[in-house]
Amino acid sequence: MRATVFVSGVLPGDATARLAEDFDVVQADDGVRSSAFVECASRVRAIVALLTDRIDEDLLARAPNLSVVANVAVGVDNIDLDACAARGVVVTNTPDVLTEATADLAFGLLLAAARRICEGDRLVRAGGWTGWTPTFMLGQPVHGMTLGIVGLGRIGRAMARRARGFGMPVLYHQRERVQEGFERALGATWVPSLDDLCAASDAVTIHVPLTDATRHLFDAPRLARMRPGSVLVNTSRGPIVDEAALAQALAAGRPGAAGLDVFEREPAVAPALLERQDVVLTPHIGSADTATRIAMARIAAENVLRLLAGEPALSPVPARQR
Ligand code: GLV
Repeated sequence: MRATVFVSGVLPGDATARLAEDFDVVQADDGVRSSAFVECASRVRAIVALLTDRIDEDLLARAPNLSVVANVAVGVDNIDLDACAARGVVVTNTPDVLTEATADLAFGLLLAAARRICEGDRLVRAGGWTGWTPTFMLGQPVHGMTLGIVGLGRIGRAMARRARGFGMPVLYHQRERVQEGFERALGATWVPSLDDLCAASDAVTIHVPLTDATRHLFDAPRLARMRPGSVLVNTSRGPIVDEAALAQALAAGRPGAAGLDVFEREPAVAPALLERQDVVLTPHIGSADTATRIAMARIAAENVLRLLAGEPALSPVPARQR
């Protein structure tokens, strides 16, 4: 009998078709809370999950034959890893393929926020542009800014490489310093204290996973350490930044602008941020270029194919990432 694989949403490319060659695929377009999942839960062997799916103990209890959760994302904060480990369910993600795409967007948000690109676009469209003047719509220079990178993992390093092209001194913060050779190649200097990194950077970009330790890492006291007029960019996970505190911090000018691709309660955005001109908001599209999303779907499918054939996964997530 063919194994049942639940695909939680419509995927780009041929990933679902490839799975359908070997498995009975149940495809939903509204996630694991759909009636399609309820109907197949008792027999499902693998779930191709989206970051909007909450994979928790309650769901696992309804899927006793489940052995694989293949997340179409690098972040796995939507999955209870301990509960999966306790039930012997292997979790996989899609690292590497989205590194450059996410760094592209983060750099785009930095440029847009610092140089008021979206604000300018809104103004022009609204017919509010009355002509060039030397003092009109002044922003911050991006070239030469000191960039503070929070988390020098794959995406953080991709940001450091982009920063070099803009002549930006790069600081980074994470618990452990990377090897000296690495630092030299990236031109990045370790700052042991996150508060010190905030105080020394003209822009701060966040590239850490969401865990209990990083939830509201950017709260009111930390935001107050940022430089007046600086820029905060977040393309990792929304709850790392306290949105209400950020709106207040922007009103006080520290930071002076922000570029956000992720939010605390997606797809909702704090009204206090929506009202502000100095925030660039994008709808969680860090990895959303066509080639990247096709590659992510393919890797998720490949992880399912391998694991259900008794082979090792391409990209297993360690049981304890926290
Ligand atoms: C996107 O947010 C991802 O984690 O891949």
